[in-house]
Amino acid sequence: MKLPHHLSIKNSHLHINGIDCITLAQTYGTPLYVTSEDRIVEQFQRYKKALSERYPRVQVLYAAKANGNLAVMRALAGLGAGADVFSSGELHLALDAGMPAEKLLFNGSSKTPADLALAVYKDVKVSVDSLEELHQLDGAAKAAGKITKIAFRVNPALEVPTHPKIATGLATSKFGIPHKEIPGAYREALSCTNVRPVGIHCHIGSQILDIEPFIRAAEVMVGIAAKLTDMGVQLEFIDLGGGLGISYRHDTDPAPTPEDYAAEVVPVFSAGVKACGISPELWVEPGRSLVADSTVLLTRVNSIKSAHKKFVNVDAGFNLLIRPAMYDAYHEVIVANKADAPLTTEYTVTGPICETGDILAPDRKLPDLAAGDIIAVLDTGAYGFSMSSQYNCRPRCPEVLVREGEAALMREGENTGDITARMQRPLWQR
Ligand code: LLP
Repeated sequence: MKLPHHLSIKNSHLHINGIDCITLAQTYGTPLYVTSEDRIVEQFQRYKKALSERYPRVQVLYAAKANGNLAVMRALAGLGAGADVFSSGELHLALDAGMPAEKLLFNGSSKTPADLALAVYKDVKVSVDSLEELHQLDGAAKAAGKITKIAFRVNPALEVPTHPKIATGLATSKFGIPHKEIPGAYREALSCTNVRPVGIHCHIGSQILDIEPFIRAAEVMVGIAAKLTDMGVQLEFIDLGGGLGISYRHDTDPAPTPEDYAAEVVPVFSAGVKACGISPELWVEPGRSLVADSTVLLTRVNSIKSAHKKFVNVDAGFNLLIRPAMYDAYHEVIVANKADAPLTTEYTVTGPICETGDILAPDRKLPDLAAGDIIAVLDTGAYGFSMSSQYNCRPRCPEVLVREGEAALMREGENTGDITARMQRPLWQR
């Protein structure tokens, strides 16, 4: 199987940045998420370079929802990244990681009064999702005696080739304001006293393996920019969102690279803004394509059962990686201690959760397995830990970060006490 260059096989063991995954599993226990900081740095720099070579004013806003570990966010902050934050929690993460407020965009289709007040207080730009939210934000900014800069989230009504649960810019999606109503929304914003419209924002979906929809989105956005410029809106940025897919099937699914994205999308963008006579910043919000392939989830084989199929029961399930159960997502698996052994037997890798759907990888050809083997689930750096839960009272596992041959915990594992710690005994049970 093709592997990204931070993963390698030596002495039959899978290594990440030169560190033996089996040693990591022995040191920290399983299940265990292991992330390569070097890989994240490399991917971010590729993005920044590819875009900046074609347009002079670029901001890469990391989509914090993909992986909200502070160590990951800190590494990205150190490279100059901003962030797309989708909650007050993610806003705190980004600020704690050292990202400056001016490089953040507070997104979200259902913000609370507290979210809006926090954005105002921290001077973070807000992507406004409805007219009602516009007026709530205007009120919050007025109460604080501030002017808050905003964009509207545009719903460009674009079909995209991805799983329907992660297409976000369909005419029927819950996100944003229909593109035809956008000029009216800006007119309304211009009449508000405490918000100032300075940007436009869209995000058409996630895990998109075709560049064409991004080109369509850029066309819609520069078309809107022309109308807004005529209306007197001074655009400081146009945010094209995230969504670039990755090759989850390493040998068969080619994925567009950040260079492909830049080569095809940026010319449409720059011609469009030039025609408007403006030079706003180009913002993008990648999540998955920055962090997904940086990470492996190491999980130990508890037992093997031959029933109507050969089931490999491992210690990580959809409590730690929900993508296969939720989106029928495919993740490559490698037996980390038998990484170059012949693939002789078909197994279905199943988690420990009490649900029939708790299958990490169905029908995979793997080496002959035994209890104690360690399976690495690849490409789990995006929407892996960040979507984990404590279902079945399972503590979340630790996360380790590796960099230049060194490994360190970036999150301790939980224990059952952590799960019960905030539970309360109601008075009548005392
Ligand atoms: N910007 C906004 C406003 C978003 O909603 C998202 C993702 C992104 C940026 C980043 O998109 P990316 O570059 O990662 O595709 N849990 C799903 C993915 C949900 C994506 C939601 N929004 C999965 O595991 O496939």
